[in-house]
Amino acid sequence: MRTIFTLTRAMVASLLFPGLIASPVCHMEPTVEEATEFALIYGYPLLSYAKFALPILQSRGTNELSHMRQLSTAEFQDVVRPNVDTLYSWVILDLSERDLIIEVPEISDRTTGFSHSMMLAKSRYGNNYANIGSISQSSPGKYRVRYSRDREASVQLCGKASGHDDECDDDYEGVINAPTPYGTFVGRLAVEDDMTDLEEVHALQDQMALYSIPRKQPHPHHSNRFIPPLTIEMLNSSLSPDISLRTMQMTARFTPFSRPRIISDVRHVDDMLRHAGIHHGHYKPPTGVNLTYLAHKAGESVRTHAALPANTVQLGNNWSELAPSAQGDYGTDYKMRYYVAQWGYLALVASEALYPSYHDPLSDGGGTTLTLGAKEAYTITFGSKPPLAAGGFWSVTAYNAEQYLVPNSLNRYALGDRSNLTYADGLPVYGSSNGSDETGFEILVQPADLQPPRNWTANWLPAPAGGGRMSITFRLYGPTQELISGQWEYPHVRKHVALSA
Ligand SMILES: *[C@@H]1O[C@H](CO)[C@@H](O)[C@H](O)[C@H]1NC(C)=O
Ligand SMILES: *[C@@H]1O[C@H](CO)[C@@H](O)[C@H](O)[C@H]1NC(C)=O
Ligand SMILES: *[C@@H]1O[C@H](CO)[C@@H](O)[C@H](O)[C@H]1NC(C)=O
Ligand SMILES: *[C@@H]1O[C@H](CO)[C@@H](O)[C@H](O)[C@H]1NC(C)=O
Ligand SMILES: *[C@@H]1O[C@H](CO)[C@@H](O)[C@H](O)[C@H]1NC(C)=O
Ligand SMILES: *[C@@H]1O[C@H](CO)[C@@H](O)[C@H](O)[C@H]1NC(C)=O
Repeated sequence: MRTIFTLTRAMVASLLFPGLIASPVCHMEPTVEEATEFALIYGYPLLSYAKFALPILQSRGTNELSHMRQLSTAEFQDVVRPNVDTLYSWVILDLSERDLIIEVPEISDRTTGFSHSMMLAKSRYGNNYANIGSISQSSPGKYRVRYSRDREASVQLCGKASGHDDECDDDYEGVINAPTPYGTFVGRLAVEDDMTDLEEVHALQDQMALYSIPRKQPHPHHSNRFIPPLTIEMLNSSLSPDISLRTMQMTARFTPFSRPRIISDVRHVDDMLRHAGIHHGHYKPPTGVNLTYLAHKAGESVRTHAALPANTVQLGNNWSELAPSAQGDYGTDYKMRYYVAQWGYLALVASEALYPSYHDPLSDGGGTTLTLGAKEAYTITFGSKPPLAAGGFWSVTAYNAEQYLVPNSLNRYALGDRSNLTYADGLPVYGSSNGSDETGFEILVQPADLQPPRNWTANWLPAPAGGGRMSITFRLYGPTQELISGQWEYPHVRKHVALSA
C-alpha cells in the first residue's frame, strides 16, 4: 500500500511572508488608502478560511475529526480541481481553551516502510506552520498542539536528546506551537489507483485520534482579552455581503486574537490596520474611502506581485511552479498568501508537494487553459520517472472547462505512479518488473469519445468528449530537489491529431 498521510493543520491566523517588501523603516505615516489596501490583502485569506470552516462547524463543530471515505469522481462538484490521489481527514481546531492531542497512526507500507505520511499545520490565514509525517521523517505517535502566542510557530520534537520542554512529558513525539488559537488540520492518505487498499486506508483513518486536554500553562491573554471559542457566529454573523467590507470586518474581528506569524512584523501590521480604521475588534470605515475601488486595486497589485519572476520557478518545457517561498508558508509576503488563498487554501509547502503548471505557448496569453479540437490530442512525454523521495508519488489529472473531473467510461481521472502505465514495448512502467528509471514513457490526453489504439489504453487520460477547454494538473508529492529546481527534465507536451483505433 502506498499511503500518504498528510495532516494539514490549516489553522487560523499565522502570517508568514518571505519576499515581500519588509516593513519600511521610514517613519512616514501610510495614507488611509495605502493602509486599507494593505488590510484588504492581509485579511483576504480569512474569507477562504470561513468558507472552508463554516460547513464543517455546522456539521461537526470544532475539534472533531471528519474523514472523506471515497475518492472524488466526475459527479463530485463541491470543490474545483479535486485530486484523486488522497483521502482527506480534517478538523477545525479551536485552541482557545484547551490543548489538543493528535495521534498519528503508524503507517506501514509493504514496500517502503512508514511512508507517504505528512502532517501539516495551517493557520487561519493559510500559512502551513507545521509539517509532520513521513516525508519530513517524523514519527507516528502523539503530538500535543498548543496555542503559543509568544513562540515562533513550529514543531518541537520531543526525542530523548531534546526533552527539556516541560510539556514534552508523557509519551509525546512532539509539541506543535500554533501561532493562532483557531485553524485547521488536514490529514491525507494516498489511495491506490484501483482502490484495492481502500479498506486499509479507512482503518488508518479510524486510528487517527484527536482529543483535548487541559492546558499546562495559564490561559494566554491578548492585552487581557479573553479568547472566545470559535463559533459559526464569529465566522458568519453581522457581516456585509460585500466582499471588501466583509474582509475588513473579518480582519477586525480576528485581529485581537491572531497576530502576524512573523513576530517582528507585528508592529507594522498593527499600525497599518489601525490606519485603515480597525480598532479594538471593529472596523469603522474612514470617511471618503472607496472600498470597492481599493479592493480592485489590491487584487491587481496581488496579481502583479505574483507574476514577478522571483515568485515563479521556470522548470523547462513550458512548465513552471510557484517559488518555494511563495507557496504554503509566506512569512511577510501577504500578497502571495492572498494569491494562493484564492485558489489553493490548502496548498502544501514545496518540500511536501509540487504542483507545476503547464503553460501552452499557443493558447491565449500562455495560460494554463488548454484547448483541444474535437479530433485532437496532447501527448505528454516523460524522459524518465519523476525522482521522488521515499514514500513520494505523483499523478497527472485532467479537468474540464468547469475545472471538474472529466466524465469517461473508464472512470479514469488521473494517471501516475499508481496506474498501469506502460512503456512503448508494453512492459509496465511501475510494478514488480519495473523498467529502468531512465526509460521514457508517454501519456495520451485524448477526448473521452475517441478510443485510441489498443496499446494506448493504459496510458490514455480521457479529455472532455468533443474537445474544448480543459486543463491538466501535475502533482508531485515528496519531490526531490531535482524536481524542485527543475534539474529533472519536465515532460514535453505536444498537440497533434488524435490517434484512432
Ligand atoms: C492494473 O493491472 C492489474 C493487473 O492486471 C489490475 O489488478 C489492477 O486493477 C490494474 N489497476 C488499474 C488502476 O487499472
Ligand atoms: C451565513 O450567513 C448567511 C447570510 O446571513 C446565511 O445565509 C447562511 O446560512 C449562514 N451560514 C451558516 C453556516 O450559518
Ligand atoms: C468607487 O469605486 C468604484 C470602482 O472604481 C466606482 O465604480 C464607484 O463609482 C466609486 N464610488 C464612489 C462613491 O466614488
Ligand atoms: C514552449 O513551447 C513551445 C511550443 O511548443 C516551444 O517552441 C518552446 O521551446 C517551449 N519553451 C520552453 C522553454 O520549453
Ligand atoms: C503503441 O504502438 C505504437 C506503434 O507501434 C507506438 O509508436 C507507440 O509508442 C505505442 N504506445 C504505447 C503507449 O505503447
Ligand atoms: C526497480 O527495480 C530495481 C531493481 O530491482 C530497484 O533497485 C529499483 O529501486 C526499482 N525502482 C523503483 C522505482 O521501484
